Amino acid sequence: MSGSPIFPGDLVVTRVCRPDHDLLVTLEAYDFEAFGLTGLRTYDLAVMAQAGAVYLAYLYDDIVGGCQILRMLDEPGFFYVVGFYVRPRWQGRKVGRTFLLAVARELEELGGEGMVLTVAPTNTAALALYRGVGFVDESFIPHFYGEGEDRHILRWRFPGRGLHGGV
Ligand SMILES: CC(C)(COP(=O)(O)OP(=O)(O)OC[C@H]1O[C@@H](n2cnc3c(N)ncnc32)[C@H](O)[C@@H]1OP(=O)(O)O)[C@@H](O)C(=O)NCCC(=O)NCCS
Repeated sequence: MSGSPIFPGDLVVTRVCRPDHDLLVTLEAYDFEAFGLTGLRTYDLAVMAQAGAVYLAYLYDDIVGGCQILRMLDEPGFFYVVGFYVRPRWQGRKVGRTFLLAVARELEELGGEGMVLTVAPTNTAALALYRGVGFVDESFIPHFYGEGEDRHILRWRFPGRGLHGGV
């Protein structure tokens, strides 16, 4: 379902540090809804929240999107996006763009130089979103996640003058 664009100021983005059992179960269901069997499970999400970062986007008390991030060991200035999704009923309303820019601002405040992620070549919505905010194609790796699971690797090098204004 798509509706009118959200008002960016209505989107509240928070980092969840210690998700309780109910929240972990809810987030597992949302990851499954977005990614099917490759979605993160409760255990993975708890690890991500503890050792990386789990950001949630809220609109009027509803969780409308999720994002899991890791700081890259080999490139500590960069953050790796493990997962990013907007719940289906909120897609097409600028939630993804607003959420992604908010996460990027958080990462920049943590000293981040940019973000790296993988996208399936068939995921035209995600590719358009990422390229639209500033991600640039870095490489294309056949079978990145195993047989037939090719991925583009995209990198967004933050401009270094603050990310406000892009929403
Ligand atoms: C990809 C995803 C996060 C986009 O979120 P969204 O809230 O629908 O995106 P927005 O409404 O903010 O749109 C931002 C931009 O993304 C692109 N986009 C979004 N939906 C699109 C679609 N169906 N087709 C083409 N481009 C699309 C457009 O460039 C759009 O900008 P525009 O509205 O100015 O044209 C969402 O579709 C999703 O969660 N998909 C399932 C999970 C997933 O694939 N995650 C990414 C894994 S790498």
